[in-house]
Amino acid sequence: MTKTSSIMVASIKGGVGKTTVAVNLAVALSIAGYKTLLYEMDTVNPGVSYHLGKLDDESSVQVYKPTGLQYSPARVSESYGATEQERASQLESEIKSGNYDFVVIDTQSADKSLLKRHFDMGLIIINPDEQSCAAGIMAKDLLESSGAKCNIMLNRGFEKPYALSDREIEEMFGTPIMAKAEEDLSLRKSLLEHVPNIITENAPKFNSQISNLARVYAAMIDEDYAQKFENFGKELNRAKSEIKKLQR
Ligand SMILES: Nc1ncnc2c1ncn2[C@@H]1O[C@H](COP(=O)(O)OP(=O)(O)O)[C@@H](O)[C@H]1O
Ligand SMILES: [Mg+2]
Repeated sequence: MTKTSSIMVASIKGGVGKTTVAVNLAVALSIAGYKTLLYEMDTVNPGVSYHLGKLDDESSVQVYKPTGLQYSPARVSESYGATEQERASQLESEIKSGNYDFVVIDTQSADKSLLKRHFDMGLIIINPDEQSCAAGIMAKDLLESSGAKCNIMLNRGFEKPYALSDREIEEMFGTPIMAKAEEDLSLRKSLLEHVPNIITENAPKFNSQISNLARVYAAMIDEDYAQKFENFGKELNRAKSEIKKLQR
């Protein structure tokens, strides 16, 4: 591993699960032992703090103590434009700093200009419906035009007959679905508790899908990734007991 890999979690549509996936993926990578920064670019409706809990200081990069994840939460900007540009250049310098193995970026649905910047990888989040797929294709095209390699994650999957099938989705995108997670309402419990779902017993299938996703990204950049994941369960349990201590 010689450089930072940036993963832009994107769609042009809100509510598809970008923030949920970005937060849990970043937490999973930090549990596996990768130096990870979660960078929030949604200054219209920032959501990261609902997953990670209240901020305990005002510094721009903070440490999420249970796992060592670093994160930079966005604050709501009153004038759209200036803050986004400032944060976009701060994000660029964080990526260049060499301080991280992974930088995971949670973005805002409407910010198309950000998607025209260069990121190593795009994780396009879609649901099994035409509107979110169209929004995903738009995000993918923008990211690929600046050189990102994009993968697709189908989130909030549910049973037919009202859902698009995997095959229909893959035909629309012209590429296979890399990861899938079903609709699971117990994710809301974690949001109420302000604990990232992966460090809870809620939605266990979602959690194993996210840890698989973290493993796939680790395998892309690290030939020793399997060794790192040997201790994943132990480190996850350690994070769970840290959370319990903090909740007392
Ligand atoms: N797999 C899922 N199952 C059930 N609810 C989900 C799932 N993924 C996301 N959600 C819920 O959908 C809502 C929007 O998710 P969020 O991650 O904030 O989307 P976005 O960042 O794309 O706007 C949240 O209430 C979240 O808990
Ligand atoms: Mg969001």
